Amino acid sequence: MTDTTVNETRPLAIIILAAGQGTRMKSSLPKVLHRIGGRPLLGHVLDIARDLHPDHVRVVLRHERDQIAEAVTGIDPDIRVVDQDDIPGTGRAVQIALDDLPSFDGDVLVLSGDVPLIEAATLDALVATHRSRAAAATLLTAVLDDPSGYGRVIRDAGDGVERIVEQKDATDEEAAVTEINAGVYIFAAEALRTHIALIGNANAQGELYLTDVIGLMRASRLQVAALTAPDASVALGVNDRVQLSEAARLLNARTVAKWQREGVTVQDPATTWIDVTATLARDVTVLPNTHILRATVVGEGATIGPDTSLEDCEVGERAVIRRADATLAVIGPRATVGPFAYLRPGTELSEGAKVGTFVETKNSTIGENSKVPHLSYIGDTTIGRDVNLGAGAITANYDDLAKHRTEIGDGVHSGSHNVFVAPVRIGDGAKTGAGAVVRKDVPPGALALSVAPQRNVEGWVEKNRAGTAAADAAERARATQKADDGSQEAHDRP
Ligand code: UD1
Ligand code: CA
Repeated sequence: MTDTTVNETRPLAIIILAAGQGTRMKSSLPKVLHRIGGRPLLGHVLDIARDLHPDHVRVVLRHERDQIAEAVTGIDPDIRVVDQDDIPGTGRAVQIALDDLPSFDGDVLVLSGDVPLIEAATLDALVATHRSRAAAATLLTAVLDDPSGYGRVIRDAGDGVERIVEQKDATDEEAAVTEINAGVYIFAAEALRTHIALIGNANAQGELYLTDVIGLMRASRLQVAALTAPDASVALGVNDRVQLSEAARLLNARTVAKWQREGVTVQDPATTWIDVTATLARDVTVLPNTHILRATVVGEGATIGPDTSLEDCEVGERAVIRRADATLAVIGPRATVGPFAYLRPGTELSEGAKVGTFVETKNSTIGENSKVPHLSYIGDTTIGRDVNLGAGAITANYDDLAKHRTEIGDGVHSGSHNVFVAPVRIGDGAKTGAGAVVRKDVPPGALALSVAPQRNVEGWVEKNRAGTAAADAAERARATQKADDGSQEAHDRP
């Protein structure tokens, strides 16, 4: 920029307001810790603040102070928390934060912990406007179809900002104004210090309003500028759960669009939820009703969904996951999962492995190209490569006292409906018969059978259940069989 009033090296302090009670959320969880896009509201604001590389950050807390402070420290241990006293209002919050920056001279950016959709580009523009106008204060405004709940921006005849009036203090005429205060401002530190000292609480809520500083600065003939956000969604304030879901939806739309621009196909953005912390590669396809959450990473060409939820998962290239729920699982390249699979923490599928329909896995490794296709529970198990487990494989990993491991070697094929009673080891290349209950180790290459040979008791039903439909059916079948045998005998006779 050529404008000489813009000095990029002017110091910047950021004050984040998060001391309010959040009454309208009706929640035991502090408002700013409610999550959208996988992160607390306050986390989004802290992130954006850090993106601006400020010289100082102060987060003002009071209600649920310890819980929020812990979350703040978890995000960035260097951010300083200051405590608001029992005098209420956003103006008081700023007074307290400024007291903690006694010799700071530069620009003070004020953000609200409950305005989470603010973007770095908007703040850059706000700072640029402020500095180019050499303003004492510059506020972010937005024009909303429904401005209810927000402070209204009252402009003078020359279209300059004159003051802000809170909804509860507004006349009908003022309340009809659709331009609102976004709760995001930048101030020259000195002007803010002198004017914040002058605010009073003679208003409907009996609070010290930060917004009153604007009118006071105008009365001192200081320059007050405003930037109207072209996209009003950045100004959305979260006061209740209706606004919370609206913020979540808007943030998600933004996230989905970002990945679409990076080469991800998202068939139905409205039912696809992607946390801001997830990462997707090119040519990933996301089908409807899919949640990609937390630190999930999806590799190139993978297909996820429909009806799938992945939380903290790692998905390899060209894996296919349909109608599945997975947490803390690693799904290797070209592996396939589902439909209707439940992958619990510690599941690892190697390249080309398959977990099929109605299969639950936990703390288990499934080797390269190995398959658990149907109706199975695999827990605390290591499966080698090229294994095929028959339908209904159950690892009985828990003996009432402790969990034990099942180890299945390379190339093992198990019959249907097997129970592996852990701890147990199946050697490479071994096989098991249908219905086997495998309680002892199976040596490599052995066939394990545990079911007694079948014995047929002829005529049992006709003798013991005479007169039932089953007995009648059996009798008819035996009569037909006898007749057939008779004609066959006649035919066979030389
Ligand atoms: C505030 C603005 C309003 C603006 C709206 C934008 C004031 C007086 N009003 O109203 O003009 O349109 O935000 O979303 O500023 N907080 C404190 N200490 C307090 C009270 C609040 O730190 O004593 C924090 C809250 O935690 C919150 C933020 O300040 O993060 C805004 O407070 P809130 O009570 O939600 O103000 P609004 O009524 O939304
Ligand atoms: Ca608010």
